[in-house]
Amino acid sequence: MSMDFNALAETYGTPLYVYDFDAMRAQYETLKEAFRGRKSLISYAVKANSNLSVVKQFADLGAGADCVSIGEVRRAMMAGVPKYKVIFSGVGKRDDEIREAIERDILYINLESEAELGRVEMIAQELGQVARISIRVNPNIDPKTHPYISTGLHDNKFGVEIDAAKRMYIRANASEWLEPVGIHFHIGSQLTELDPIREASEIVADLVRSLKAAIGIELKFFDIGGGLGIRYKDETTITPYDYAQAVLSTLTGMDITVVCEPGRFMTANAGYFLTRVLYEKQNGAKRFVVVDGAMNDLIRPSLYSAYHRIAPATAHEGDETPADIVGPVCESGDFLAKEYPLPPMAHNDLLVVHSAGAYGFGMGSNYNTRGRAAEVAVEAGADRLIRDRESFEDLVAPELKYLG
Ligand code: LLP
Repeated sequence: MSMDFNALAETYGTPLYVYDFDAMRAQYETLKEAFRGRKSLISYAVKANSNLSVVKQFADLGAGADCVSIGEVRRAMMAGVPKYKVIFSGVGKRDDEIREAIERDILYINLESEAELGRVEMIAQELGQVARISIRVNPNIDPKTHPYISTGLHDNKFGVEIDAAKRMYIRANASEWLEPVGIHFHIGSQLTELDPIREASEIVADLVRSLKAAIGIELKFFDIGGGLGIRYKDETTITPYDYAQAVLSTLTGMDITVVCEPGRFMTANAGYFLTRVLYEKQNGAKRFVVVDGAMNDLIRPSLYSAYHRIAPATAHEGDETPADIVGPVCESGDFLAKEYPLPPMAHNDLLVVHSAGAYGFGMGSNYNTRGRAAEVAVEAGADRLIRDRESFEDLVAPELKYLG
């Protein structure tokens, strides 16, 4: 859909996040369709974009929620995700978070260590309530063949080894307070190749089979994590259909619900970050375009050297030359792009940063006492505010009362 970015910036001010809700819905539907014919749950990874209205629209479509803090669990439920579609993952859950998750009776808690299993069992017993659990397996896929994988290796902090997982399932199965219902793996984010996904899925599917054969545990949920990559620039991506087929091919003969936890795939390319040019300047041979958006709004370029396509909202005269597009924050690392080809820019010209719908606003901060940007949804041609721009008063309120 073509959007009138100039009008949106005029109405809501900049810096601004804009989300195309129709595009988000299409992503959900494409992925759901890919798993057709199989019991499946698309459990949206709330961390990618946790705005309540975004989560609500996925909830309305039937999605579940993958949450990594009790705050995200609360958000998901507040946005209308039913408790039986909420999953709570993460390597470091506090006792109070575990307690609340059990009390809220969510689908399952995803365990990431033997020690955590012990805490969950203890808290479930205290509450007198059985906790449904799944275990995150770390399939240790060889990084030499697949160097872009970053979380499914023993070097990474996530999940447990196969042998530890077996011990944990035996223990959980024997416990009066734990009900093992699922198994989980997540080998990395922004995956653009299929083989590692298929390999990991095979390893984990074998484990499910052996748990059934050896211990008689029948798991209900096969949770393949998130990670489906998107095109930021010119990446070749995996189609949802091939993704689903790769996983399903490892599950023949098994009656198990496939759960996936996409974040980026659902929202990234449906989001735009709008920022206005403040100044152009030249330091020696180096050209800078200073804009009103900064690393506190969109940290991916600074943190990961991530590429985001950036384009003026209106056609410009003049040759493109490379410029660093930088924000007002007092750090040399505050940039949206380096050496990016741009035509000559003038004060107040609008730039559109693409693919900003995932890990954009959510990774924002108030660094340099900058209020976070407003967020706007565009749906069926109509726009509406879904988060106020943070004011100075919002920022100082938690401190002001202590001034005396
Ligand atoms: N499930 C688990 C257990 C995860 O750790 C993640 C992401 C997801 C699902 C969703 O992954 P996705 O489908 O979005 O790839 N801030 C980084 C990305 C961090 C991803 C962390 N885990 C970025 O901006 O690229």
